Amino acid sequence: MMSEDEFKRISFFLKSRYGIDMSRKKEIMNGRLENHVRAGGFSSYHEYMDAVEQDFTGEMEKTLVNLLTTNHTYFMREFEHFEYLRKVVLPWLKKKEAVNKDICIWCGASSTGEEPYTVAMILLDFFGLEHADWDTKVLATDVSTGVLKQAVDGIYNKEALKELPEPWKRRFFRAMPDKEQYKVAPELKNEVIFRQFNLMNPFPFKRKMHVIFLRNVMIYFDNQTKCELIRKIYDVMEPGGYLFIGQTETIDKNSAPLQMIQPSIFRKREGMK
Ligand SMILES: C[S@@+](CC[C@H](N)C(=O)[O-])C[C@H]1O[C@@H](n2cnc3c(N)ncnc32)[C@H](O)[C@@H]1O
Repeated sequence: MMSEDEFKRISFFLKSRYGIDMSRKKEIMNGRLENHVRAGGFSSYHEYMDAVEQDFTGEMEKTLVNLLTTNHTYFMREFEHFEYLRKVVLPWLKKKEAVNKDICIWCGASSTGEEPYTVAMILLDFFGLEHADWDTKVLATDVSTGVLKQAVDGIYNKEALKELPEPWKRRFFRAMPDKEQYKVAPELKNEVIFRQFNLMNPFPFKRKMHVIFLRNVMIYFDNQTKCELIRKIYDVMEPGGYLFIGQTETIDKNSAPLQMIQPSIFRKREGMK
C-alpha cells in the first residue's frame, strides 16, 4: 500500500494537471497503480513519480492518466438526452443553420466512443437523405489516450449494442468473424473526429459549439474546477446552444448565466455573445 505521503503526491499531481480529485480514494488509486508500478521495477511510488516527472516524452504520464481515469460509458446512456436532441435540438438547428448546413457538436469526455457514436447515429438518422448536404461531424475528445484508441478502433462486444435499434445495428456496425464483436461501419466512423484533449487546458476552438455533451466527468472534479470549466464551456457555446451534463451532476448557477431547461440540460440564451 502506498504511504500517505505518496498518496498525497499523486493526488496533487492528478488534481493540478487534470482536475481529477482522488483525495479520498486512496485504495482505488493504489489498486489501479500497484501492478503497473511493480511491473516497472520501481521500489516505491515516490521512485515511480520521480520517473513520471522526469520523462519528457510524456509517455509515462499518459499511462498514469490512462490507469487513473474512470471510463465507464455505454451506448444510449441517459437516453432522455438523445430524445431531447432528436425532438428539440436538431429541429431547431436544422432551421437555424438552413443556409450554412454546418452543425458543431462536441463530446468533451467521450471515453471509449459510445457517446459520440450514439450522437452521430442520431444525426444520420435525423437528416436521412439530406445528410449528404450537411456537415454534422461530431468532435469527440478525452484526456485518456487509452480510451481514445479503443474509440478509434470502434470494436464493441455484442452485448454493448443491445440498447440499439436493430436497423441501426445493421446499418452502422459490421460483425467481426467471431460474431461476438462488432466494428463501427465506415459510414458512422467518418462522422466522428477523435482527439486527445485535457479539459483543464485553454480551449483551442476556432468556432463556437451548437451542442456540448459534458456528461459524467465533472463528478471527478471539485467545485472550483467545475465552476471554472463551466465558464469556459459557456464561452465556446453558440447563443441558443445546448449543454448536456450527467443526470447525477449539478452545476453552480453562479458559474455561468445558463438557462436550465431540465436538471441536466442547459441552454445559452439566444442573443447572448
Ligand atoms: C465516466 S467517463 C464518461 C463518458 C461519457 N461522457 C458518458 O457519460 O458515458 C469520464 C471520462 O472523462 C475523462 N476525463 C477525466 N478527466 C478529464 C479531463 N481533465 N479532460 C478530459 N477528459 C477527462 C476520462 O478519461 C473518462 O473517459
